[in-house]
Formats: sequence, C-alpha cells, structure tokens
Amino acid sequence: MRNAILAPSLGEAYREHFLIGAAVNAYMLRDEGHRRLIRRQFTSMTAENEMKPERLLDREATLALADPVRCALRFDTADRMLAFARECGIPVRYHTLVWHNQTPRWFFARGWSDAPDAPLADAETVLARQEAYILQVMEHVNGAFPGLVYCWDVVNEAVETEQGGPDGLRTRSLWYQTTGSAFLANAFRAARKARAEGQLLFYNDYNSYFPDKQKAILKLLSDLRDENLVDGMGMQTHLDLARLDLPAFESGARAYAKTGLALHVTEMDIHCPGADGESQALLAKAYGDFFAMLLRLKQDGAHIGCVTFWGVTDRWTWLKFFRKQDSYPLLFSGEMETKPAFDAVMNVLKTD
Ligand code: GLA
Repeated sequence: MRNAILAPSLGEAYREHFLIGAAVNAYMLRDEGHRRLIRRQFTSMTAENEMKPERLLDREATLALADPVRCALRFDTADRMLAFARECGIPVRYHTLVWHNQTPRWFFARGWSDAPDAPLADAETVLARQEAYILQVMEHVNGAFPGLVYCWDVVNEAVETEQGGPDGLRTRSLWYQTTGSAFLANAFRAARKARAEGQLLFYNDYNSYFPDKQKAILKLLSDLRDENLVDGMGMQTHLDLARLDLPAFESGARAYAKTGLALHVTEMDIHCPGADGESQALLAKAYGDFFAMLLRLKQDGAHIGCVTFWGVTDRWTWLKFFRKQDSYPLLFSGEMETKPAFDAVMNVLKTD
C-alpha cells in the first residue's frame, strides 16, 4: 500500500497500450487529494453524471425560448470539469448524449410539459429535438474546449433483451416509444455532423458480452456501419467478483474486435464486498487476469483504446448505493493508497 499520489502512474505505465480513465464526479474535484490522484494516475477522464442530459437540460429556460424543438442547456458544472481535465492535460471520454435514463420525461413531452401524464410529442418532433440537442452539446464542448474530447458515447443502453422489442431494442425507453428505432441512426447522424476531426463515436452498453444481448448489439452496430455512423463499441464492464466469467467476457470482446471497430472498456469495476486482505487478494487476481486478457486481445489485433474505471477510489463508488452494501471495487483505497489490485494491474506489464 503506497500513497497513490507518489506511486508510479498507472496511466503512464499503460500509455503504449491504451488510455486508463476514471469516471469523476464534481464533488471529487472539490477534494484536493482526489484532484492530485486523478492528475497523477489517469490518462482519460469521464464525468460520472455531469454531462448526462438531465444535468444539462434547463426546463425554465427552455420554456422561455418558446420553441418546440430547441431546448436551453446549462453547462456550468460540465465546463468546470472539462476545464479541470484540460488543466491536467487529460483527454475526455464524453458520456453520454442519448440515454433512456437520466433524461427528464418533459424532453419527450408535447409543449415540454412536465405533467407526469402529459402526451408525448410525435416522432418527428422528438427526432428534431434530439438532433438539436446533440448539435448544441457538441458545438458547445468543441467550441469551448477544442481538442479535449476524443470520443463520444452517442447512445447508451438501447438494447434490452429481457423485455426487448424486435431487434432486442429497449421498448420501455421513451426514445423507443416516441420514435421506434429511428432515434439510433438519427443520433449518430447528428453526432457525425458535429464531431470534430478525429473524434470517435461510440455505442455503449452493459452485459454486452451476454450472448443474446451481444447478438442484438452486433446487429445494431452493423446497421449503423452500413452508413458509416459508428466508430467504436463501449463495453461497460461492471463485474462482480462472485460471478466472474472472464472467458465469457473475452469471447464477447473478441466478437466485437472482429468487427474492426474500436473497443473501449468504459465502466470498469468489480464488486467486492470485503475490505479484508483475503477478499482484496481475490480482487487483485481478477484485475490482473482481466488486464492480461486485454493485452492478449490487443496483441491479436483488437483496437483497444481505453479502459475507464467507474470511479477513482473506494471512498466514492456507485456500487454502495446500487448494491446497498459495502463495496471495495477499485484500485485505490478511500485513504488514497494503492491497493493490491493496483499492483496486480501494474505487474501484468512486467510479464508482458
Ligand atoms: C450505467 C450508466 C452510467 C452510470 C452507471 C451507474 O452504467 O452508463 O452512466 O449511471 O449506470 O453509475
């Protein structure tokens, strides 16, 4: 266990292979220790929540515009995070433009109404709103922070095989309910139009190596590729130590790699309820095996560009809320020290 700010940098150690990212929250950036740790250890940054639609959309200001399509956005918090990344020289993975979750219902409603049962707008209006939203966000970010964002999660989690519709699309999503499948290509077309040179466009999803889900996602990617709309696949990778199946993950990742698209691990953590030595040794072994597998995939030609951890230290992890139990899933402890999992990921490079 070493002070993570003084320890060797994981991001630098992996630089020749792929970027090492962290999902960061605005409150982490109010903590000087976390700021220094992020600057030292990571080579890519993602906002955990602050760049999602619900955080940018401003309903009062949208009503004041009195426009059925254009909405008003507030960028103050997102801009502060982008400014921090720029100051550290850390490129940003933008998450996320289109998602069924954390997007307010009023965005889909006629007249921007926030009444819970307000009628939904027609497909044409929702698609026009979506395009306007994407253009506005991308133009703002690329205008204020040129060269900072290197890829965009354009659509997040459109597939749901359990209750999915034709093609496995998530029918409970308001995007689907208002536009059918049209929102997918519409979103990527807008993002293609607004992206700056070199920026990659991603589709991102969880459990994306589960066979049924993967089949649906591969179809979705192939449809988008017919129009040259997508550049990469984001595998979220929220794993659980008690249910780890790395061979299944590896074969799923290989199937995505075979498409020739860029592959990012976008939301990596491994749920581990124990902080004790034994549990953390098992976690370290799992992380070591995972990174060794990624390097094998790279050697075999996969275009792995980034591995992003969903969090920075165990002090703040979404798993505590999601699981409603303790979780110590990351490489750095809440006391800002490197954990055995950090050493395991570093050690993979020694045997490379
Ligand atoms: C999904 C989303 C992320 C985040 C996590 C939980 O994976 O893509 O943005 O909300 O859930 O934190």
